[in-house]
Amino acid sequence: MKTTLNNQQIALQVINKIQETPQTVTLVLKPLSQNVPYKAGQFLTIILNINQQEIQRFYSLSSAPHSDDLLAITVKKIPNGIASKYLTETIKVGDQLATLPAAGQFILPKSETDVVLISGGSGITPLFSILKEVLTTSSKNVYLINANRNRKQIIFKTALHDWAKKYSNRLTILHFLSRPTEPLSSPIANETFKEGYLSNFRIERLVKKYTSISPNPHFYICGPEGIMLKSRMTINFMGFPKANIHQEAFIIKEISKPDPKHFSDSEVTYIYADNQAVKFPVQAGQTILDAAYQADISLPFNCKSGICTVCSAQCKSGKAEMYTTEGKFDTDNMKGITFTCVAYPLTNTITLQSDALQSLPQKQ
Ligand code: FES
Repeated sequence: MKTTLNNQQIALQVINKIQETPQTVTLVLKPLSQNVPYKAGQFLTIILNINQQEIQRFYSLSSAPHSDDLLAITVKKIPNGIASKYLTETIKVGDQLATLPAAGQFILPKSETDVVLISGGSGITPLFSILKEVLTTSSKNVYLINANRNRKQIIFKTALHDWAKKYSNRLTILHFLSRPTEPLSSPIANETFKEGYLSNFRIERLVKKYTSISPNPHFYICGPEGIMLKSRMTINFMGFPKANIHQEAFIIKEISKPDPKHFSDSEVTYIYADNQAVKFPVQAGQTILDAAYQADISLPFNCKSGICTVCSAQCKSGKAEMYTTEGKFDTDNMKGITFTCVAYPLTNTITLQSDALQSLPQKQ
């Protein structure tokens, strides 16, 4: 089988496996071949070989660059999920796996800012990374609203409690439990438990309370679709700028492939950062990245889903259409930004300018 990956792959060894909840584990990982620089909130593209089949999955990092020496991903077993079953059940300490470099735009802004984090279930994973980063690298406040069924289902339960104790003046945690099985009491004032679902009304009331102390925070939302939708709608409705609202879907929807009839064959001119250019043909209905691969030309990529922006280039002439989990876009309404992994040329020729160097590792 022709591999779709190149030698950007980095080997990792499992150093520890922590059972967070009955369905969730944290894998602590040590890079073997090279360092893996990352920012809080980013994800790894993990490459597994299960039953002689190559599988690629995205997992958010739960570690943070300034508080953890090693990398960590936190994985929840999902029904019929081959990769999550392997990572939660089969893999053991000492085993190795591979990753692509860390990627993702669910990261902190350049300026220091207070943050409000809203999560449900395993959506806490990238938010835990952000929480640790803000607390250890700034003097800013962090407010976490975390929804789960009961205490047993709270991922990082003990760690969150320890962080709340350590940063009692800057970290506020409120857990909503839809079906609590234990008393709601808490030994510390800045970590509390409430019974109930996370409703629009509750989000609005809490955001009002937090923003009376921290007037212009950045919001980070990650969790099931329902929680993300109502959180984003409520915060939008309250008038906070869109640029301050960040969300990450931890289940990446399948991207629909467009009908090839909609496109024509094209030729791409791809200009690297050093102004060296390559040309390659793209068949109607083929993505620019896939066509480059077929022509033995290595372009940068990571998620191949229009999420991480690693493959981004600027369209200088011509036009392409992009199909992402957020919907359909074209290079005109994206101000020329082109994600080659999900871009299909609409014109017979198209020119892309990249920030990437031509000396990318060549495919194997
Ligand atoms: S490879 Fe991630 S957006 Fe294209």
